[in-house]
Amino acid sequence: MRNRLPDLPLPDQHGRTWLITGATNGLGRETARAAARAGARILLTSRDKDRGQQVAAALGDARVIALDFTDLASVRAGSATVDEPIDVLVNCAGGLTTSRSETVDGHESVLAMNVLGPFALTNLVADRLRGRVVIVGSNSHRQVHLDLEDLQLRRGWNPMKAYGRSKLADMLWALELGRRLEMTGVSVMLAHPGWALTNIQNRFGRGRMPRSRRCRRCGRSRRPMAPSRSCTPPPVRCRR
Ligand SMILES: NC(=O)c1ccc[n+]([C@@H]2O[C@H](COP(=O)([O-])OP(=O)(O)OC[C@H]3O[C@@H](n4cnc5c(N)ncnc54)[C@H](OP(=O)(O)O)[C@@H]3O)[C@@H](O)[C@H]2O)c1
Repeated sequence: MRNRLPDLPLPDQHGRTWLITGATNGLGRETARAAARAGARILLTSRDKDRGQQVAAALGDARVIALDFTDLASVRAGSATVDEPIDVLVNCAGGLTTSRSETVDGHESVLAMNVLGPFALTNLVADRLRGRVVIVGSNSHRQVHLDLEDLQLRRGWNPMKAYGRSKLADMLWALELGRRLEMTGVSVMLAHPGWALTNIQNRFGRGRMPRSRRCRRCGRSRRPMAPSRSCTPPPVRCRR
């Protein structure tokens, strides 16, 4: 990342274990570093075992869980190796694709990567959770609506629609998970990290995500525009 985050004032984490997804890059890696600095043992998921080992080596007390969220068999296999209590699970892995694709399980890839895989992992390790679950969402959920008739987005796919819908689904999942875990002592937190120049922005090759245009009157978004250097969408009027 271009600018390092300032050290986060985490309380002492010695004796606590954090399971962090997407800890090989971007925000997940910074989270893992901060937790490790505070003394936590880190379990980090990685779809590339060598890359995971490199990051783990720099963290200290850390172990790699090899899994790819676009392959549910690997999520099952990876979660089966989590055999210790988890104090904090940070569901940070996520991303988007530049064109519509489907996973080996036949799911739209962005939905699989951002929702279905993390949902499966969280459920599979649920009996080992003892503190907190964090689900990393995004403000981009504001720009979309869920179409329950077309969750796989077979019609009208575009990167930001797929991403925004997956993040809206993450929010709904977090709210329901929080309700279901209420009596267990495990809390659920939903986080929007703000805008950070990580690899997610580089999917389009210019360090910027495509901008959505918002109507000045109704606030609804219109189709995403090509990537641009400016982060501020121009005001537009909705014709709907
Ligand atoms: N950056 C922002 O401005 C921003 C804003 C709002 C929300 N977010 C959210 O923040 C989270 C982290 O994003 P980031 O900005 O840190 O992006 P990033 O730098 O691209 O990191 C994404 C992480 O997810 C992992 N990952 C991606 N696809 C995966 C898959 N199929 N299976 C397993 N792991 C996978 C990546 O692994 P590899 O190292 O193998 O690529 C990487 O560790 C995401 O949930 C994103 O939606 C980010």
